[in-house]
Amino acid sequence: MHSLARGKPMVLPPTWRLWVGMLFVVVSEQRCIFDEVQAQAKVVQAAPTELRLLQAMNRVGRMASAERRMKLGKPALSTLASPQPIRIRLWIVKESGNLSGNEKERMEAVVEEAVRVVSSLLSVNRVKGPLLLSRDINKYCKFLWKNSSTANYNRCGRANSNYRTETCLDVTIPDDHLDGCDIYMSADSPQRTELRPKGSGLPDTDFLLYLHIQSTDKCRAEPGVLAYAAHCRTDAQGRPLAGVVVICRDRLTGATYKRQAAVQTVIHELFHVLGFSKELFHTWRDCSSTSQADGSGCSHRGKVTHADQSGQMRIFTPSVISALQKHLGSTDPELGGPLENLDAPLGRVSSHWESRVLQGSIMTAVLGDSTTVRIDPVTLAALQDTGWYIVDLSRAQSLVWGDGEGGTFGSLSTCQNKSTFFCSGSGFGCHFLHLHKGACQTDQYLEGCRVYKPFKNGSECWKKEDMGQSDEEDSGGEIFGFDSRCFFSNLTRQSQSQFLSFSSSVKGRCYRHRCTGQNRYQIQVSGSEWMDCPAGGSIQIEGYLGSVSCPDRRLCLYPDISPPSDHIPSSITSAPSEKLTSIQTPTQLPHTATKASFIIVAVCLLSAVLVSFKRCCSFRIRIHTFTDDHSDP
Ligand SMILES: *[C@@H]1O[C@H](CO)[C@@H](O)[C@H](O)[C@H]1NC(C)=O
Ligand SMILES: *[C@@H]1O[C@H](CO)[C@@H](O)[C@H](O)[C@H]1NC(C)=O
Ligand SMILES: *[C@@H]1O[C@H](CO)[C@@H](O)[C@H](O)[C@H]1NC(C)=O
Ligand SMILES: *[C@@H]1O[C@H](CO)[C@@H](O)[C@H](O)[C@H]1NC(C)=O
Ligand SMILES: *[C@@H]1O[C@H](CO)[C@@H](O)[C@H](O)[C@H]1NC(C)=O
Ligand SMILES: [Zn+2]
Repeated sequence: MHSLARGKPMVLPPTWRLWVGMLFVVVSEQRCIFDEVQAQAKVVQAAPTELRLLQAMNRVGRMASAERRMKLGKPALSTLASPQPIRIRLWIVKESGNLSGNEKERMEAVVEEAVRVVSSLLSVNRVKGPLLLSRDINKYCKFLWKNSSTANYNRCGRANSNYRTETCLDVTIPDDHLDGCDIYMSADSPQRTELRPKGSGLPDTDFLLYLHIQSTDKCRAEPGVLAYAAHCRTDAQGRPLAGVVVICRDRLTGATYKRQAAVQTVIHELFHVLGFSKELFHTWRDCSSTSQADGSGCSHRGKVTHADQSGQMRIFTPSVISALQKHLGSTDPELGGPLENLDAPLGRVSSHWESRVLQGSIMTAVLGDSTTVRIDPVTLAALQDTGWYIVDLSRAQSLVWGDGEGGTFGSLSTCQNKSTFFCSGSGFGCHFLHLHKGACQTDQYLEGCRVYKPFKNGSECWKKEDMGQSDEEDSGGEIFGFDSRCFFSNLTRQSQSQFLSFSSSVKGRCYRHRCTGQNRYQIQVSGSEWMDCPAGGSIQIEGYLGSVSCPDRRLCLYPDISPPSDHIPSSITSAPSEKLTSIQTPTQLPHTATKASFIIVAVCLLSAVLVSFKRCCSFRIRIHTFTDDHSDP
């Protein structure tokens, strides 16, 4: 099971900001709820006997239909079902009823969007007929027939009189979703009595998602918990058939609600329950040697996670390795997908990617600002390697982070000084996608490595509204807007320099940009013409002291990195700015009003301190993962 947590934002008067910062340092380092939830949570999996029975029945069924096909003279393969987009059925749990109509609609829309995204990525061999979940034999049965040479081996001999319901985590599964169950009075006789009748099941469903929106104990237990999830039923091949996502009501429906972040949260949880889970890694299947479209020739992969020489646990499956090789530009055949080590005891795995290596991936333990979260190729490769899905890998979003940096990228020994993706110190700069300004920070998952993280407020270069939120009297010529990006710069207006006895330090500043080719672009600073900004170099701007650095291989290279489309100004109707379009005719921008005034150095320093504290509290989502203990047969 997995839970998703998010730091609680607070708004306090400026004089309190210092304190808020400190509080956040404490809050963001709270322990993970892994252990408690592991003890409480229970995943019920289909009993092995039923699985074997199902498998046997499937085999018989397949043979029968193959025979029929042969009699009809049709080639077997052409009539077999080919994988089709997964049909995820949403079942909203009744107790979620205390939501206002608005909140409910909003949350349903969020989950529906997440489901749409996931089913556009994953295809399965569809469940034939209505989906029926099996009952847990260890719950309804007091004892099983244990003599393997009898007909009713592993069938139920006596009903458990306390048996009432089946649950999926905290959710009671409606009887209508459940298969029936029988009691066999003697070890050998086919005579049986029906304990529970078969429900009618769910038509057109490959995965049943119970959605529970509530303020549960787990939500209250840790202030940062946002949502959590677990799968609770699998089919005979181990593919999850049902699961639950609990969305903590207060966090996702209150003032802190952000739609895109909520959608990503649900996608993250769905990826967990569909297979990206340490509970499921060992049940992944290898379907490479089968030509059967229905997956019947797949074999178990066995253990797919191992430690590398440095002790980092990795997933070693073919698609994951080749996706990571391609991404990092390495030919290392041992380049498995690195798993987060922080939530797991030494030598154990967790269900998230190592955030130093796959920062920005939707399956890291920490999700940043929603514009920076990517459904990346390595995550999709992992889902492909489950063997349960055919994944549309072409729909992966570029990760950017670590692109082409080589097989050792993100290791603790190299993050300090070998890559421009990391930073050192605690200065201000640009988030690596250059959509945001940021502060050089670390978090528990980065383990001392530091990256520029967007500030909580006012760091989005692409948001015109952020302009006014600049904390200082800025003389650096910034322009905010849809086509603005973050640049390392120490520009200072010449007219102002006379007031400043010290040179301006380099930090992230927002300037307009436009693409002129692959990795080629021009920039515009307040009051300047469009200027070529040679990738990897730096330029000076007339009227300013200092210079602007031009990032290499970050801008005008990834067509899918752009501000959220709902921020496209009405004047731009088609192409987002990142598209490689030809040079547009320069347009005259209204100049930023410069607020030239005396700046007292002491005030400057004080505000810088306040700002840096405020900025440590950038709004981020923390995700914990924890296991469910399986019910013991
Ligand atoms: C329903 O919401 C109200 C306030 O919105 C709260 O006071 C009440 O306890 C809630 N009821 C349940 C059953 O959660
Ligand atoms: C198991 O069942 C077989 C056939 O009914 C019987 O011969 C055998 O004694 C049984 N074994 C045990 C250990 O009860
Ligand atoms: C990078 O850091 C490592 C360890 O911190 C150090 O051994 C190495 O000399 C550094 N390299 C450079 C070029 O600074
Ligand atoms: C962030 O910006 C919003 C909108 O301008 C403002 O209401 C809020 O108080 C700011 N939050 C902080 C922590 O500065
Ligand atoms: C800007 O930064 C560069 C490089 O750090 C430095 O050489 C230059 O003196 C700075 N200029 C100003 C005006 O601060
Ligand atoms: Zn997670």
